[in-house]
Amino acid sequence: MTGGKPPAYAASIITKRDELTIMNELRGQVALITGGSSGIGAAIGRTLAKRGVRVVLAARRAEQAEAVADEIRADGGEALVVACDVREVDQVQAMVQRTIDHFGGLDILIPNAGFGYRAAIVDGDIERWKGMIDTNIYGVLLTLKYGVPHLIDRGQGDVILLSSVAGHIVAEGGAGYSATKFAVNAIGEALRQEVTRKNIRVTILSPGVVVSGFQEVAQYPPGIIDNWLSGNPPMQVEDIAQIVEDVLDLPRHVSINQLLIRPTGQLRP
Ligand SMILES: NC(=O)c1ccc[n+]([C@@H]2O[C@H](COP(=O)([O-])OP(=O)(O)OC[C@H]3O[C@@H](n4cnc5c(N)ncnc54)[C@H](OP(=O)(O)O)[C@@H]3O)[C@@H](O)[C@H]2O)c1
Repeated sequence: MTGGKPPAYAASIITKRDELTIMNELRGQVALITGGSSGIGAAIGRTLAKRGVRVVLAARRAEQAEAVADEIRADGGEALVVACDVREVDQVQAMVQRTIDHFGGLDILIPNAGFGYRAAIVDGDIERWKGMIDTNIYGVLLTLKYGVPHLIDRGQGDVILLSSVAGHIVAEGGAGYSATKFAVNAIGEALRQEVTRKNIRVTILSPGVVVSGFQEVAQYPPGIIDNWLSGNPPMQVEDIAQIVEDVLDLPRHVSINQLLIRPTGQLRP
């Protein structure tokens, strides 16, 4: 069918959609971002603060997070820094409580703290595996366990999780890191089913190569990024922050649950 009036059933759906559409006003909301001292977390903090979101930057390196918070304040935004190791239950509980005490509530929860480590299984460093599993899986679960009840209290909220392309595609050397990011996908989908009827949106972002502190921490072998990108540009942390802003800006009845985001020139993984 082309042109003309829409059929009656469509007209009623369109009317209903207009009636139900509630935009998500970001100004005044409170966002808690773990891994806010660097990279993607810091960029999300800067971007949301520009939109009037009051941000909490949590990380172990509090001085580094404080430098990000100073930038935000100099730009007219509001930011609080909380020193927290997401592997420690008491520290995660204290991080959430400090957020509530300072800003009076929590609307946006972004358990972003994490790191990578590549090694063939037979060469794996067991301490690094354990640290990565404790941070990328247990730390995410703890942050959600203590943070999400406050979103439920508000009657609406957003959770944005950081998975990875490695959470969808496994490559040699990536057993440990991929396992943690497959786990993030599982956690995010379970959480979605648990809270979506409570007006809480859950979004899992899976980026490809983003330039950040990540590559240094992961101690990637030389040449690996060139191999993936063949000289094409990687993504910048601001690209991911912009996507977070876009996801949050959607009307409340629209929820993007999964996004795979690669630099255009990244052929694989
Ligand atoms: N960059 C990429 O290419 C890429 C691609 C896909 C997914 N990701 C994911 O994106 C997330 C952010 O990474 P990024 O690229 O922004 O790397 P990054 O610049 O190295 O930042 C990682 C952040 O995690 C924090 N962190 C690490 N361990 C922590 C712990 N135990 N407790 C609290 N905070 C901790 C670090 O802060 P402190 O050291 O100060 O504690 C830092 O702020 C990670 O989950 C990563 O897996 C990154």
